[in-house]
Amino acid sequence: MPPLILIVDDERSNLDSLRKIFEREGWRVLTAASGPEALELLRREPVSVVVTDLMMPGMSGEALLRAARTVAPDVEVVLVTAYGTVEAAVSAMKEGAYDFITKPVKRHAVVKSVRRALEKASLLAENRALKAQLAGLTQGNALLGDSPRFRAALEVLLQAAPTSATVLLQGESGTGKELAARLLHDRSPRAGGPFVPINCAAIPESILESELFGYEKGAFTGAAGRKEGRLERAHGGTLFLDEVGEMSPGLQVKLLRVLQDGVVERLGATQPSRIDVRLVAATNKDLAAEVKAGRFREDLFYRLNVVAVRLPPLRERREDVPLLATVFLRRVAEKHQKRVTGFSPAALHSLEGWEWPGNVRELEHAVERAVVLCPGERVEVSDLPEPVRAARGAAGPPDALVIPMGASMDEIERLVIRETLRQTRGDKTLAAQILGIAPRTIYRKLDRDAAGRLVDEGPEGAPE
Ligand SMILES: Nc1ncnc2c1ncn2[C@@H]1O[C@H](COP(=O)(O)OP(=O)(O)OP(=O)(O)O)[C@@H](O)[C@H]1O
Ligand SMILES: [Mg+2]
Repeated sequence: MPPLILIVDDERSNLDSLRKIFEREGWRVLTAASGPEALELLRREPVSVVVTDLMMPGMSGEALLRAARTVAPDVEVVLVTAYGTVEAAVSAMKEGAYDFITKPVKRHAVVKSVRRALEKASLLAENRALKAQLAGLTQGNALLGDSPRFRAALEVLLQAAPTSATVLLQGESGTGKELAARLLHDRSPRAGGPFVPINCAAIPESILESELFGYEKGAFTGAAGRKEGRLERAHGGTLFLDEVGEMSPGLQVKLLRVLQDGVVERLGATQPSRIDVRLVAATNKDLAAEVKAGRFREDLFYRLNVVAVRLPPLRERREDVPLLATVFLRRVAEKHQKRVTGFSPAALHSLEGWEWPGNVRELEHAVERAVVLCPGERVEVSDLPEPVRAARGAAGPPDALVIPMGASMDEIERLVIRETLRQTRGDKTLAAQILGIAPRTIYRKLDRDAAGRLVDEGPEGAPE
């Protein structure tokens, strides 16, 4: 959809000539003959940029600018001023106008200015969307990811969550199985009930049985009192059976009985008790293959495999790495009270290039380490763990600069110098060597303020 430009002028002929210019650029155009009319349009239409005359009867361009800020905060405003009113234009710039151009309007100048304003407007909108998304995500234990593969898995999870269906989560270590189990619980009518995890691999087999089923006093030597098992404790909630592939054949039979009959029997008990438990199981093994190999009971497999969800390894959804890394960076920066705000493009590139055998957990730890070690405000390649750093050679281009089309050679030179200085952490001699110029030239190319510091004027340059 081409962008929408709103032209405001009290003179018809001006509206017509600007309209022609903009339409030749392929932009959509709306016109208004007065400030109030323009505001009306701003309320209703998704305008990206307003080009308005400064001197208009009734409501001036400057007043319109101020009003537009509240009506449509994302809109950028370009002012058109007659010769002699430049001072008013400058004060309007301070109010937040994007640019001003003087009459008579030159086609080239107005197109260039509006094009840049459009770029800024779309960047702002994108930024806002990303920030809103991040704000929602940095808190809590949301399952993050936007790649098609991940979304497909998430969709099944969200559909299964409100039911009581047994879910089998499969995926490599660190792919988020436990997080997914919690999500299933939290998004179910059982959310108010208990979420009880038990890791079949971490508990020795002899203890696992009594942990799961509980026991009565004197059920075995050492059973001094009675104990409620985790199955019972999960009554009204969810039992998360982690690493279910490690369960012994004997226990598999007992678990199957619970699933079939909905009752548990404590060790040494005479009466079974009825329980209402939703079961979520997880494994990093290929459970179907375990069945074939005779290590896992087929009937239990079918009982567990009612809804199957495979959580994809991170290397199959590399597109998600920047999002995950950014969210983790924010969490960790807050936790450690560090002013680290992001990654250098090259660092992000390395993160995307690595295989992540430990998946999201490994990424989480890599980001934490980088934030803790990072001396500046931005995580650089050198802050990343060695294997991740090494991965990048194979993965893609080295540090790259983005140069906006339409930049002058002068601007490009300054961009390259500034970036090189950033990389050398301000060492001008080294930067000059890298660039093959004299250090003197660096000083000459960059403006300096009174204190002798390099002035970073940003890509637009300050208004005179
Ligand atoms: N999609 C995700 N979004 C955000 N964080 C995630 C995601 N997946 C995993 N994590 C985080 O990665 C870490 C590992 O996740 P989790 O413990 O759920 O993995 P797992 O599959 O159970 O691994 P294992 O098989 O080793 O037990 C956790 O800190 C978790 O918060
Ligand atoms: Mg786990």
